[in-house]
Amino acid sequence: MPRKSDPPKFPDSYIGEKAKEYDTLIWMERNQKKATVMALNYLYSDLGGNKQFRGPYLILDLGCGTGYSSEVLLENGHRVIGIDILNDMIIKARNKKNFFQNHNNLELVLADINHLPLKSKSIDHIISISGYNFITHNKNSVRDKIKIVNNTAKYLHRILKNETGQIIIEFYPKDEQELDLFVSSFKKNGFDGYLIKSKPNQKAGQTFLSLKKIK
Ligand SMILES: C[S@@+](CC[C@H](N)C(=O)[O-])C[C@H]1O[C@@H](n2cnc3c(N)ncnc32)[C@H](O)[C@@H]1O
Repeated sequence: MPRKSDPPKFPDSYIGEKAKEYDTLIWMERNQKKATVMALNYLYSDLGGNKQFRGPYLILDLGCGTGYSSEVLLENGHRVIGIDILNDMIIKARNKKNFFQNHNNLELVLADINHLPLKSKSIDHIISISGYNFITHNKNSVRDKIKIVNNTAKYLHRILKNETGQIIIEFYPKDEQELDLFVSSFKKNGFDGYLIKSKPNQKAGQTFLSLKKIK
């Protein structure tokens, strides 16, 4: 999601009037949807590339916000569980839901990525567009950050269905250290993967993490 202004702050950028603004910005919708299409294409290509690997799947949309990404997943035939921690955001997704194609395939849940109310091995794949890096927002020490990213990676590993489960995360690490924090949490907890930078020479900027459940 290339930025038109300062980097968003959590939760300030997503509550009250800011949530309303988020849901009406055309460039925001365009960029969220574009990043979601890119994430889906990375998912398909990691699964084998052919049409037969395009699902439909049950996909968890982590940090679903006002539903731009979920809408793209629905349009591509998937069943979707959208999770968001902020009522101001998810309520807007709920208001729009009936206008989405295949809307009966979408369930929206107010919940924290760090404490998901989901069963083991219940999800085919996970996608998160511009939300995942906020999971450390209220952790000040490196130790606390490591703890939360590890616990979340462990949990995501548990809820993915089988050895073909994939996670695609799009985010904007603020520096190399933050990128390492997230990458190593997945490597330590049963995932293998790689990262794709939209601008390979930039250390920060749009980054996709493609992760495969390996054990
Ligand atoms: C950029 S916005 C939404 C992006 C979303 N892809 C869309 O299409 O609107 C990021 C979202 O992540 C959510 N978020 C941040 N931390 C979260 C957490 N711990 N659990 C669940 N959602 C979270 C925020 O509330 C916000 O709605």
